[in-house]
Amino acid sequence: MSARGEPSARTGAARKTTLIAVGLLCGFVLWAHLGSGVRVFHSEVVSEPGWEAFRAKYDVDYFGGDGQFVRAVQNGYNLVYYTHKYAPRFTRKRAGDAVDSCAACHSAEDLAYGFVSSDRLDPKTGKRMSFEDSVRRCYARSMNGFVPTIYDPAVRDIRLLARAVAHHLQLSEGTIRPPERVTTHDDRSASTTR
Ligand code: HEC
Repeated sequence: MSARGEPSARTGAARKTTLIAVGLLCGFVLWAHLGSGVRVFHSEVVSEPGWEAFRAKYDVDYFGGDGQFVRAVQNGYNLVYYTHKYAPRFTRKRAGDAVDSCAACHSAEDLAYGFVSSDRLDPKTGKRMSFEDSVRRCYARSMNGFVPTIYDPAVRDIRLLARAVAHHLQLSEGTIRPPERVTTHDDRSASTTR
């Protein structure tokens, strides 16, 4: 009896260890997804103030409700409007700085026009500037920061945001932004009578 009992006792112990391991694994997965709040464990992009309005205004859902592209555009939104928070590796700007984001100097539409007019010869530098080059230049120069590689999501997702907005505005290659309409005396008197 004892000769047969021993192996089964060992199997029982092994089963117990396996159960504990599986339990720990499941516990970790549940904690990571539901309880931890650690960003790296989540595939969703954090929704910052203004994203829903932006999403509706530029009809980002055209590219699918929750696809890879939309998530990249959302990350692009976070990078452009909350640069100090989402690209701290590439900017020295802090939340307290008056200019702490790309959006302090550029609207999303500026970036869309910049996107369709990129890859042109830049008369100032005498070089052909890609959209990525401009973004990298602004991280370094306008954000007083550091230069990401062109493959970094901090560059790529801004390109995708610009692309989505350019698509919504139906800008074709090389479209130049029309000059701002100058406010005339008539406009002003019209707005005061409203
Ligand atoms: C302090 C203001 C300022 C900030 C902040 C800034 N930029 Fe710029 N950006 C400029 C100026 C000025 C130019 C024109 C540069 C030139 O032609 O020499 C420019 C040019 C560009 C261009 C080229 C297209 C165009 O409109 O001329 C892109 C794209 C761009 N910036 C993206 C960004 C991104 C992305 C960020 C945030 C990471 C950013 N910028 C932050 C001022 C700024």
